[in-house]
Amino acid sequence: MRIYVIGSEGRVGTYTLPYLQERWSVVAPPLAELDARDRNALFASVERAAPELVINYAALTNLLQCEHEPDYAREINAEVAGNVAEAARRVGARLLFLSTDAVFNGAKGFAYTEEDEPAPINVYGETKRRGELRIEEKSEDWLTLRIGWLFGGTQTGKFPDFIVRLARERDKLQVVDDRYGSPMRMEDLTRIILGVVPRSELSGYIHVANPGEPPNRLEFAREILAAHGLEHVELEGVTSDHFGEKVPRGGYLGLDISLLESLGLAPADDWRAAVRAEFGAGGGSGADR
Ligand SMILES: NC(=O)c1ccc[n+]([C@@H]2O[C@H](COP(=O)([O-])OP(=O)(O)OC[C@H]3O[C@@H](n4cnc5c(N)ncnc54)[C@H](OP(=O)(O)O)[C@@H]3O)[C@@H](O)[C@H]2O)c1
Repeated sequence: MRIYVIGSEGRVGTYTLPYLQERWSVVAPPLAELDARDRNALFASVERAAPELVINYAALTNLLQCEHEPDYAREINAEVAGNVAEAARRVGARLLFLSTDAVFNGAKGFAYTEEDEPAPINVYGETKRRGELRIEEKSEDWLTLRIGWLFGGTQTGKFPDFIVRLARERDKLQVVDDRYGSPMRMEDLTRIILGVVPRSELSGYIHVANPGEPPNRLEFAREILAAHGLEHVELEGVTSDHFGEKVPRGGYLGLDISLLESLGLAPADDWRAAVRAEFGAGGGSGADR
């Protein structure tokens, strides 16, 4: 199979690309060569590659930057998503897109299924939802995976990295306990992506995560610290108001993964085991395991 990848230099792209390349013939132009905002260049490049599948990882994922630069966020998360969907349709290719739990408002109080109506409350979520809708409009054969708290792979600047760094400097940490989400280990996400690529019958939305009751940030932090041998650091639960967060975020963004499970694609490790496997002694062993 021939696969065309956009956004391959980001976090998910960098991690998954070698696995895709091992199995299939992959064309993945770097951003310096192809900016997907340039529709004509994108269409020509995709036509030349003549792929059967297009994977779009391109996004603006910095939540604060999205709030400050909503037009730019819309351009990348919505317009580019539409351009890529159109480029895929023109060559008769299937499209794989990654989206986010942030398309929901977090007010439901229990895990979101694929049938729940999105209602984003921040610019990132709103622009990603627009991207999802552009894809529905422009593509005839698409699969969108919605992800929550992605961890593993390159951690720099992300929650686990942040919490471990603070825990090495202090005896006590305050962590919010009123925000819930579904952790997703990069290695397991990679297995899911490798699993859906050949299954051309799969389309629509699928929520993806490691199994287990969605934790709050404090519970997630506790497991991350334990895996690093930092369980002695005292954790105090606080509400999100305490830090005066700059980006509005939903309270409960757990994802229901029943559909993923019914397709036989759910990771074997629940999120606690996945955290231990990622950060515990020995670390990750790669998606080939
Ligand atoms: N990471 C998470 O926790 C998470 C959670 C849920 C969903 N997702 C979704 O998963 C997908 C991949 O996320 P990620 O973490 O890999 O994001 P990322 O690290 O921000 O990577 C996105 C990539 O897209 C590139 N890009 C931006 N504008 C582009 C353009 N006009 N043309 C071509 N490429 C462009 C970026 O380049 P520059 O960096 O140079 O701008 C970057 O390399 C995204 O759709 C994201 O919304 C991620």
